Amino acid sequence: MECRVAERGRIVLAMMLAVATAWAGVLLSVPPASAQPVRPIPTFARDVAPIFFTHCTTCHRPGQIAPMSLLTYKDARPWSRSIRARVAARTMPPWFADDGHRPLAGDRRLNDNELMTILAWVDGGAVEGNPADLPREPAHAQDDWQIGTADAVFELPDEYPIPASGPVAVQYFEVPTNFTEDKWVQAIEVRPGDQARVHKVLLYHRDSPLGAGANPDDESAPPGRALTFYASGADPLVFADGMAARLPAGSVLVFEVHYTTNGSIGRDRTRLGLRFARQPPALAIQALSIRNTGLVIPPGESNHRVRASVKFDEPVSLVSVVPHAHRRGRSYQYRLLHDDGRAETILSVSRYNWLWESAYRFAEPVAVPARTTIEVTAVFDNSAANKANPDPRRAVTWGWDPATHEMMLSFVVLATPRSP
Ligand code: HEC
Repeated sequence: MECRVAERGRIVLAMMLAVATAWAGVLLSVPPASAQPVRPIPTFARDVAPIFFTHCTTCHRPGQIAPMSLLTYKDARPWSRSIRARVAARTMPPWFADDGHRPLAGDRRLNDNELMTILAWVDGGAVEGNPADLPREPAHAQDDWQIGTADAVFELPDEYPIPASGPVAVQYFEVPTNFTEDKWVQAIEVRPGDQARVHKVLLYHRDSPLGAGANPDDESAPPGRALTFYASGADPLVFADGMAARLPAGSVLVFEVHYTTNGSIGRDRTRLGLRFARQPPALAIQALSIRNTGLVIPPGESNHRVRASVKFDEPVSLVSVVPHAHRRGRSYQYRLLHDDGRAETILSVSRYNWLWESAYRFAEPVAVPARTTIEVTAVFDNSAANKANPDPRRAVTWGWDPATHEMMLSFVVLATPRSP
């Protein structure tokens, strides 16, 4: 599934490059001086829609996280000025990782040709062109789920009422899978019922229900094995062919939901969509979080470093990471520290943005040999210069409320050979 989508992306991209090249060719052949330059103005149907379908409409379509749809000319036309500003500034599509480390899959950024095409389209009057030139709507436009058709869907047992104000304690919801056999999960998508107020969902699975009296809100003992992590702006978790996560028969899902309040009452019924692998995979996925719960960020400090690391005794492959922090998060860096003293930066997110919980998936899983450490460094800005910071006069410690506390946590996905 993932492969097919990628292939389609590549074909569309190839078409677009051809268009852009043809256009550049025309520009180059323009005779100098007085002759009227022949410069075809890009149209939505022919030139811009293919770019939007590849780079924008996963988020910019009805029901997704972006504020407006860019699927049709009618949808996009009123936004053309804003589109020009955001693509020229390269703040859309959103992308926060630095170049120069391990290549990442799903790079959303526009290349120069695509960028110039969009600017020329807006400057040329944002015309529609001939609707017959439109490419087919992208496959994701039809699907409710970004992962494609879900094989199993779960939801919170009831609607959860979110008050208008004040912090809401972390909520735990248990949902039985009733699976009668083990399932291999290839794609996982969390869809909050209330986009604006669901800050974060940690999803776990257990062999049996939590039981009365259990205290899942104990940092040292998570309420199960991690399956996925969602925070506002997050991508679904999709594994390459040959990799999947085991969900044993009879598993119980635990949704750990962190709500924020925003002045009015809300209702949430978060859903989970799963797509299964067609056959047992060669590699089994394991998720864990690397965190430092002892952080203390001094008041006014703009460059406060916090480290956490995990050392592996057996070789593993690192598939993806999601860095997570709150309003004072500034950057995240991931290094491999080898047994022989070598260190390699594999991922650097120097413009961390707490409103975007991007998943960074490596184009090729990163081999982590035995006795290697994955070291994570987060930098926090608790100064007044950080506009997102509600109170630079206070020292900040670990906690789930993004207004008052911080987190230094990375959700990390690993693959190891499957045991039968
Ligand atoms: C990963 C999801 C995602 C992708 C991909 C994405 N956007 Fe966005 N976009 C958003 C979200 C969420 C917002 C609202 C938050 C913000 O303004 O940053 C937004 C805001 C915008 C705005 C500002 C709207 C306003 O209020 O004026 C524009 C313009 C825009 N996007 C254009 C684009 C274009 C063009 C592309 C593709 C080239 C694109 N976006 C790709 C998620 C996305």
